[in-house]
Amino acid sequence: MGNIVVIGLQWGDEGKGKIVDYLSENADVVVRFQGGNNAGHTIVVNDEVYKLNLLPSSVLRPDKISVIGNGVALDPHALISEIESLKIKGIDVNPNNLMISESCPLILSVHKEKENLFENLNKIGTTHKGIGPCYEDKVGRRAIRLCDLEHADELNKRIDNLLNYHNAIRRGLNYPAVTKEEILKEIQEISEKVLPYKKPVWKVLNDLIEENKEVIFEGAQGTFLDIDHGTYPFVTSSNTIASQAITGSGLFSNVHIVGVAKAYTTRVGNGPFPAEQENEIGENLFTIGKELGTVSNRRRRCGWFDAVLVRQAVQLSGVSGIVLTKLDILDSFDTIKICVGYIHNGKKYDYLPALSSVQEELEPIYEEFPGWKEDTQGKRSTETLPINLIKYIKKIEELVGVPIHLISTSPKRQDVIVLKNFEFSENALV
Ligand code: GDP
Ligand code: IMO
Ligand code: MG
Repeated sequence: MGNIVVIGLQWGDEGKGKIVDYLSENADVVVRFQGGNNAGHTIVVNDEVYKLNLLPSSVLRPDKISVIGNGVALDPHALISEIESLKIKGIDVNPNNLMISESCPLILSVHKEKENLFENLNKIGTTHKGIGPCYEDKVGRRAIRLCDLEHADELNKRIDNLLNYHNAIRRGLNYPAVTKEEILKEIQEISEKVLPYKKPVWKVLNDLIEENKEVIFEGAQGTFLDIDHGTYPFVTSSNTIASQAITGSGLFSNVHIVGVAKAYTTRVGNGPFPAEQENEIGENLFTIGKELGTVSNRRRRCGWFDAVLVRQAVQLSGVSGIVLTKLDILDSFDTIKICVGYIHNGKKYDYLPALSSVQEELEPIYEEFPGWKEDTQGKRSTETLPINLIKYIKKIEELVGVPIHLISTSPKRQDVIVLKNFEFSENALV
């Protein structure tokens, strides 16, 4: 199969978890390379629903190796509670099947508190998991990393550094300072439980490749939440596009890029969304699609499929093939629209301009298609697909410029239709 990077082509929640789970049947290793427990990846196996935040989707398959790469912001408390709640469901995550990069920056209570303070001043609509402040400390060279936990002297220095910064900010906002003892206590609570997972992940991955093991890189969030390429400032604080798979894991290997897109568009949190439907259509997509956020249980905003965005996402990541999910949610619609361009102040755009205020004012240009008005949920064969559904996906392929290889027809693991097998001979990232 070769090594594959799976990324989201919209604003997250495209169904990446289900697709990584599906594809990982034929892989050996699954690696998370960015984000943290702001992700919520849903996988349904035999009517049991699993919602994974920080752990790679492969933890549900006992014979696979799961990896958290250096690019991930690691909340050790969230890690422990996710492992414990999986144990209750009979899933055993242990240092033999999970490894975590020693370079991961840690999310601590100071990060969550800082996020809460600043979200009140400048509302992005984050997940409140401390992701942004943790990455700020990483780039500011004052983060505490997993490897620091083992070395008391080093840890002491790092805590001093961290608190100099956080307490200065807190004082400015009339918020109580944090003491070194509080941070040490917080770290002592988790150290023993997380240190057994610590590994030089970049090296282990390189060794696994030497043994011809096949790797899937599991993206979190989506292209338009990317810190550089997304709808800034309404983005997350990591790079979510495919090139981050290499930086966030330390494995420079030949990879093929698979993009996951929903058959319509959703977004959680604030920010521009040109094809949003704040009307009965959006309401229907929300209700039929059960579009409640996996992490914060917020309503996902809903709109039509935006081919301009998805084409841009395909180009940004060198995507060679698409998986289209949740087509079944459109089963009852009389007409279905696709956004094919934007207009702003009389000027036509075939891409998303960078300026946030312009993004907010874009008027979408739509093409309209007749719906298929037929139940497709759970279908597993192309023979039974309605002709109007086939026309819809062919139009999407034409507009975004790459083939749709798989379609997903329900939340369940097996409900996937293979339209074209992935032939990964061209378009590899390296
Ligand atoms: P992720 O963050 O990209 O992994 O996506 P989420 O798990 O947050 O959100 C996708 C939701 O859609 C989950 O509830 C999935 O169970 C569900 N889902 C995935 N594919 C399909 C599909 O083809 N049809 C339907 N009806 N639901 C799907
Ligand atoms: P998965 O992996 C959808 C959004 C938040 C907010 C913005 C910044 O499940 O697709 P953050 O907490 O990251 O600083 O919030 O990003 N966001 C997501 N939206 N799916 C996700 O992950 C998301 N992770 C973050 O709602 O708008
Ligand atoms: Mg999600």
